[in-house]
Amino acid sequence: MTRTLQVDLGVRSYPIRIGPGLLANPAEFAVCAGRPILLLTDRNVADLHLPTVQQALGLADERILVVDAGESAKQFVVLEQVLDWMLGARLPRDGVLIALGGGVIGDLGGFAAAVYQRGIDFLQIPTSLLAQVDSSVGGKTAINHPLGKNMIGAFHQPRAVLADTEVLKTLPEREWLAGLAEVIKYALLGDADFLTKLEQQRERLLAREGDAVAPVIEHCCRMKAAIVAQDERESGQRALLNLGHTFGHAIEAEMGYGQWLHGEAVAAGMVMAAEFSSKLGWLSADDAQRAKALIQSYGLPIQPPSTMTAQQFQQHMALDKKVAAGKLRLILLQQLGHAVLTDDFSPAALQHYLAQACEAQAA
Ligand code: NAD
Ligand code: GLY
Repeated sequence: MTRTLQVDLGVRSYPIRIGPGLLANPAEFAVCAGRPILLLTDRNVADLHLPTVQQALGLADERILVVDAGESAKQFVVLEQVLDWMLGARLPRDGVLIALGGGVIGDLGGFAAAVYQRGIDFLQIPTSLLAQVDSSVGGKTAINHPLGKNMIGAFHQPRAVLADTEVLKTLPEREWLAGLAEVIKYALLGDADFLTKLEQQRERLLAREGDAVAPVIEHCCRMKAAIVAQDERESGQRALLNLGHTFGHAIEAEMGYGQWLHGEAVAAGMVMAAEFSSKLGWLSADDAQRAKALIQSYGLPIQPPSTMTAQQFQQHMALDKKVAAGKLRLILLQQLGHAVLTDDFSPAALQHYLAQACEAQAA
């Protein structure tokens, strides 16, 4: 069964298709019909799923660029390589770039499409769970900078998203769990019933049972599409999707991109956000513990790295994109299923919490 959702953004609206076997069906690529195409992917995905797409599109080898897998692809030198390739292939402005891969390929390819000749169309084919529930939807594209995660980027919406649930079967276990962290994020930030469902369906989701997974992907995409439709450029509500990310990005940047997977860092970051919310008296200790227990039950980290100090957290967090008028804002929890963007906490309280969290872990 294929499900179709719509991201409603006026002239930039686009469909999200979710279901098994999409990549083998040429009709799914209608947006590319009759247009010059280039396809960007990474080595792992190329080995496993490129032949299916290549056959469906009848795409010649020279129309494809394969980059090394992993977060290190989101850097200037690789972006330059992608742009060189696009120019060398003389892709015209009415051409389409296909990003076939996880969030790294989607972010890198999307950013290349955003800046190539001031912006061309691109198609997102997310192949990781994280990319299917989050990164392929909403038009955020970026590469990293040594000083901060996703610091160089653009908003550039895809023309369509094709989430083939069949490809998730080949995803390594650690990546599967990292994707589930972003699923849990949706529940914590905006849907307490979904949280209960994730508690109940843990075994089936960990076992990747198709009839449990597809509705969860659809639910997350529906939540994300609704938020993006209201706040495309993150002037308010969209920031809630960054629950756990300010702490998480600090972990990723400090540990070296790719050491902790993005979803793992977000998992620990969400626990930190819940604990800090509880310290501020917003969230009950029981609810903070419930969030932590859920994240732990999905095999995800619940503490910051043992080597990281409060000072290191603060240095990275000061660069966060949510800093406004010199003040850090965080996504915190007022209840499970109700997150808020706030600067209503003192720097001293945050410093105290970070010191406690880091000391507990280093002990
Ligand atoms: P990723 O793209 O590195 O993919 C994870 C790993 O899984 C890679 O090794 C990849 O080769 C492999 N892989 C992907 N699909 C596979 C499949 N079907 N079978 C086997 N292996 C497969 O990482 P990710 O977790 O997908 O995405 C993380 C990135 O997404 C981070 O850079 C993060 O910043 C970004 N992100 C962006 C947004 C956004 O809104 N743009 C949102 C969340 C995360
Ligand atoms: N993943 C955060 C966002 O898309 O806004």
